[in-house]
Amino acid sequence: MPAQSSKPDLLQNSLLQNEPDDVVVSIRQLHVSYRQRQVLQDINLSLRSQHVTALIGPSGCGKSTLLRCLNRLNDLDERCTVTGQVLVNGRDIYAVEEDVVSLRREVGMVFQRPNPFPKSIFDNVAYGLRLLGVSTRSDLQQQVRKSLQDAALWDEVRDRLHSSALELSNGQQQRLVIARALAVQPKILLLDEPASNLDPISMLKLEELIATLKINYTILIVTHNMQQAARVSDFTAFMDAGELVEFAATSDLFTTPKQRRTEDYITGRYG
Ligand SMILES: Nc1ncnc2c1ncn2[C@@H]1O[C@H](COP(=O)(O)OP(=O)(O)OP(=O)(O)O)[C@@H](O)[C@H]1O
Ligand SMILES: [Mg+2]
Repeated sequence: MPAQSSKPDLLQNSLLQNEPDDVVVSIRQLHVSYRQRQVLQDINLSLRSQHVTALIGPSGCGKSTLLRCLNRLNDLDERCTVTGQVLVNGRDIYAVEEDVVSLRREVGMVFQRPNPFPKSIFDNVAYGLRLLGVSTRSDLQQQVRKSLQDAALWDEVRDRLHSSALELSNGQQQRLVIARALAVQPKILLLDEPASNLDPISMLKLEELIATLKINYTILIVTHNMQQAARVSDFTAFMDAGELVEFAATSDLFTTPKQRRTEDYITGRYG
């Protein structure tokens, strides 16, 4: 583990001055470009602990790019340039001393398409635990079980833990990758359109799961489904063309949007 500064420095302090105490992620003046093309401009957004924030906006506006900035997945693409600040618990995650491996453990991500490894159900969930050095059979069993229970999948798979994960249905695979993310006990969960391929019942299960998880996690969820954003989130951020257009309590944003662009989008007059 890297040395983590327990106190933000002066600059960070001044940026955090007006924030509620429970802010866990603070995005400040974030700009992202791929080669010369700017895809995110001056994003400022804070995520609060034990709250769900929904990120909505038209396809291509930069939602997934923003998520990838929060666990530095964009580092893997050398054409991508990120400037600005992302503070996680007051720590600048783009600072040179940041340990990216532990950052990605702290900031878990579930992608739009379920991406289980071609391994057994058990090994999928145990994967990150083994990397962390959990090796005794009983510890692994206990933690795999807990993660599957937390992801509301245990009852459906308890009798076939050693079957291939690829034999699960889409919705089950989605919950499996959530279990895999939960196993390493992240503090922040990024969910990129996690319900886009789910049937209505699986979608409802996932929404119930998010409601339970928010007690222990800070959650950012990308969704194209406005009803879903309204159901699961406390705050909503609307993005358009690489900008954060509006951020508000979900009930306010959907009933009394302040920006014309937001209103056009949520009422379907966009484009
Ligand atoms: N690896 C990349 N290289 C070049 N351009 C990229 C890359 N990834 C994303 N982009 C561009 O960045 C912009 C934002 O893409 P992003 O995937 O973040 O959008 P999105 O809001 O998640 O869209 P969707 O709702 O369709 O998932 C798009 O114009 C896209 O073409
Ligand atoms: Mg996307």
